[in-house]
Amino acid sequence: MMKKIILITGGNRGIGLEICRQLCLAGHQVILGSRRFENGKKAVKSLGLSMDVQQLEVTNKADISQVAKYIETTYGHLDVLINNAGILVGEAGVLEPDFDVVTNTLNVNFYGAWKTSLGMLPLLKKSSDGRIINMSSSMGSLNEMGNNKTGHAGYRISKTALNALTILLSNELQGAIKVNTMSPGWVKTDMGGAGADRSLAEGADTAVWLATAEVIPNGKFVKDRAIVEW
Ligand SMILES: NC(=O)c1ccc[n+]([C@@H]2O[C@H](COP(=O)([O-])OP(=O)(O)OC[C@H]3O[C@@H](n4cnc5c(N)ncnc54)[C@H](OP(=O)(O)O)[C@@H]3O)[C@@H](O)[C@H]2O)c1
Repeated sequence: MMKKIILITGGNRGIGLEICRQLCLAGHQVILGSRRFENGKKAVKSLGLSMDVQQLEVTNKADISQVAKYIETTYGHLDVLINNAGILVGEAGVLEPDFDVVTNTLNVNFYGAWKTSLGMLPLLKKSSDGRIINMSSSMGSLNEMGNNKTGHAGYRISKTALNALTILLSNELQGAIKVNTMSPGWVKTDMGGAGADRSLAEGADTAVWLATAEVIPNGKFVKDRAIVEW
């Protein structure tokens, strides 16, 4: 097995932490990005595993450059970036939006992933098998939205935009780096709530597969290790 250097944003809890756990146990070098450094350290301690922790607020340009510099100096390249950090703040539909919430949601879920991807691109280009995995949601699917869905307007739009970014990035990178977007399903986390039907392990599975499988798609929306139309 090739040991990969993998950066996961929002790695300190929820699906992100489970992805870090699985990848670390599989023998990869995990760099756990955490909005608050201490929370990342605490999370790693709770697992009793050895991972690198970096402070990474995905809306903060200085954090992104600092992490890129650190990875360059320490590892020389990056094999996989998992843009997992995300927020869902109790939101209304398009008729009664709180634009502060909508803007913040787009800043984290969409612009954060875009900026982090660009910040890590030079390092990913140095990998022989560079990959970007964007953690989207079925709530960003136009097909699902067409099914008379309302509510969570900012969140839905942020994930649709992330899916579009995935296609455009993969078009521009022309296979030099594979870029995919994915849905983890409805997962029991702080965001998903206790009523969700998937465990953390199930929610992390497709991301771990996209990060490590020998053959993966490019420019696609993936759920349960399979390409789905969105
Ligand atoms: N749970 C589900 O059912 C579900 C379904 C579909 C898609 N997703 C997606 O899966 C991803 C992970 O969700 P989750 O359920 O694990 O959520 P979660 O338990 O709420 O965890 C969210 C993670 O994102 C981090 N984060 C938030 N804003 C950030 C920022 N500005 N910079 C860096 N990190 C930031 C959080 O850090 P702090 O601890 O510092 O806040 C936390 O580590 C999200 O992108 C979400 O949209 C989840």
